[in-house]
Amino acid sequence: MLNCLGRLEYRGYDSCGVAVSSSGIEVYKDVVRVEALKKALPRVSGTVGIGHTRWATHGEPSQVNAHPHCDCHGSIAVVHNGIINNFQRLKRQLISEGHNFVSETDTEVIPHLIEKYYHGNLEEAVEAALHDVEGSYAIIATRAGEPKLVAARKDSPLIIGIGDRENFIASDVPAILDYTDRVIYLEDGDIGVVTSDTIKIRSDGIEVTRGEHKILWSVEDAQKAGYEHFMLKEIHEQPKVIRDTLGEYAQATEPVVDLEVMRDEGIESMLILACGTSYHAALVGKYIVEELLRIPVRAEIASEFNYYPQTLARTAAIVITQSGETADTLKAIGRLKEVGCRVVAITNVVGSSASRIADQTIYTRAGPEISVAATKSFVAQLMVLYWLALSYSKAGVRRLESLSMGLRQLPSKVQQVLDDEDIIREYADYLSGYEDVFFIGRGINFPVALEGALKLKEISYIHAEGYAAGELKHGPFALLGSDTPVIAIVAQDSTYEAMLTNIKEVKARGSPVIALAGEGDEAIGELADSVITVPQVDALFSPVVNTVVLQLLAYYTAKQRGCSIDFPRNLAKSVTVE
Ligand code: G6P
Repeated sequence: MLNCLGRLEYRGYDSCGVAVSSSGIEVYKDVVRVEALKKALPRVSGTVGIGHTRWATHGEPSQVNAHPHCDCHGSIAVVHNGIINNFQRLKRQLISEGHNFVSETDTEVIPHLIEKYYHGNLEEAVEAALHDVEGSYAIIATRAGEPKLVAARKDSPLIIGIGDRENFIASDVPAILDYTDRVIYLEDGDIGVVTSDTIKIRSDGIEVTRGEHKILWSVEDAQKAGYEHFMLKEIHEQPKVIRDTLGEYAQATEPVVDLEVMRDEGIESMLILACGTSYHAALVGKYIVEELLRIPVRAEIASEFNYYPQTLARTAAIVITQSGETADTLKAIGRLKEVGCRVVAITNVVGSSASRIADQTIYTRAGPEISVAATKSFVAQLMVLYWLALSYSKAGVRRLESLSMGLRQLPSKVQQVLDDEDIIREYADYLSGYEDVFFIGRGINFPVALEGALKLKEISYIHAEGYAAGELKHGPFALLGSDTPVIAIVAQDSTYEAMLTNIKEVKARGSPVIALAGEGDEAIGELADSVITVPQVDALFSPVVNTVVLQLLAYYTAKQRGCSIDFPRNLAKSVTVE
């Protein structure tokens, strides 16, 4: 169980805990990582257990707020992902009925509700408890003396792994890959009752059958393969990820997404929604689609989109989410569907919630991404967007041929960047001494500046801002000076001359400038303090090679500063709460 938990740590890691159930329940939890809990645990015995790694929402990371949480008698234990919106009202009610609470969490109401409704049958008690609950959850409950687990989900992922005389329940596949590749995905409203040799699933009180899936990744895919960190391994996998993702679609005889249907329906614009790094892919997508399809595209942050009335007539909607579980993105899909939009999801996780609620899903073939900082999933998302736009492009035949050729060459161009990582490492050593860094770009490389800054801040804790190069003069100039380096992303496109002007302006304010520029760009060498040369590609593809440089820059800067690269403070890989 601890091994499984370790593989889920990327989902949250500010504290962790386990409960082992036999005739009683023993709970061990603390504000530590799984490795430390493993060492601190006394010998416990039992054949049923639950565990959890936490990403705090209600109550600070502390031993008492860590999961599992128990009822008054310590005979029912629960782990929970998600948020119980009405927990305060439920807690007041339960306290008035004599229940004692010890933590600040929303989760603690669940074991108490189960205790309240328990009349000899755990699954019935769980079902009754969840009746009172509003919000999102994936829970597993166990009760002393009952060799089974009861699991339930609503808007938060949960899977059952089918083993050999043992079964598993987990919130994500990597947890169980060491033991089995046979998986059942629970659906919203399902209650699963699992023993070592039986699995029963009920929905609305009726027993249901959910199909079994075989997981195609191996354990090795979810391991570091000799790299010091998952992030570095995942950055290095990108040439393969590009090949795999393009290979999947480029060889398809039928278009995988029927944009023609959208056109028949009079679609005149496109909306792309996402969060975090996926949002930066959406922004790059806007430039790709506008150039190749000649329709206006809006790229929006899902959590912002969700709170305003929308006018979406004749709009095709795409959502991008690596995990397929980001709560804000899922909510956005719901809203889009409510107003009658047909939603295409681009996700990396087969069977994820996004794939199940969208009208159509295109999978990126990045393989499991464990490092919290997204890298290969971003590049894979771009590949899907390039491929989609190229499939329906209105560009001329020659331009299309040259772009197809450019796409095929991208794996070797990215490999070229990786082969030169020692040079990038030197720049990282230099950057690691600063506390503020600006990233600037224009056009299709403006989102790359945002992504470069995000990567740097999230893993090295250096304050970094991504800016449209032309906007620096409207405020941020006040912050420039010799202690604020500026990384300028320069592409050989219509923005080139303007970018050179911006670099001159920055230099005049005393900031050191490191430019990313294509091979053979001599003008830039005379302006910038130093230049990281990137392989020559069509400007439309420049976000790919530039982003890989910036990923490596962030990685080695964080390494130089001794940061926890795969598990940055306060963050989580998949954010299943709004
Ligand atoms: C979290 C992760 C980011 C990711 C974002 C969106 O914040 O730490 O790396 O970009 O969620 O995740 P998604 O799975 O929807 O792409």
